[in-house]
Amino acid sequence: MLGRVNHIAIAVPDLAAAAASYRDTLGAAVSQPQALPEHGVTVVFVELPNTKVELLQPLGQNSPIAAFLEKNPSGGMHHICYEVEDILLARDRLIEAGARVLGDIKPKTGAHGKPVLFLHPKDFFGTLIELEQV
Ligand code: CO
Repeated sequence: MLGRVNHIAIAVPDLAAAAASYRDTLGAAVSQPQALPEHGVTVVFVELPNTKVELLQPLGQNSPIAAFLEKNPSGGMHHICYEVEDILLARDRLIEAGARVLGDIKPKTGAHGKPVLFLHPKDFFGTLIELEQV
């Protein structure tokens, strides 16, 4: 079911500082910050040869990462995104296997304009999983 790792998302309290750290200390190519109000985050993309890292900072009220940063004030790995070929097929197989799909279980349009779903971290060893149809 799972394909490539599409991205790894890291929630950070200070996006400019995190982007500078990835650029200057780790020597990675980083994008300009992009505000994604419909997702409640501002994101910087770190482009790597085999995948991307997304640095996320809360944007606006009700950001989905605000509670995470309250618990992890210096930041932390928020989710890992795996690619799937058919998100509805993947969803139905996961539900049949007893996994919990977050929200109303309908795929939403993710940060890259593709359908995404999130799986409950308690079902997958404490890791929030995003599935993205590619
Ligand atoms: Co993501």
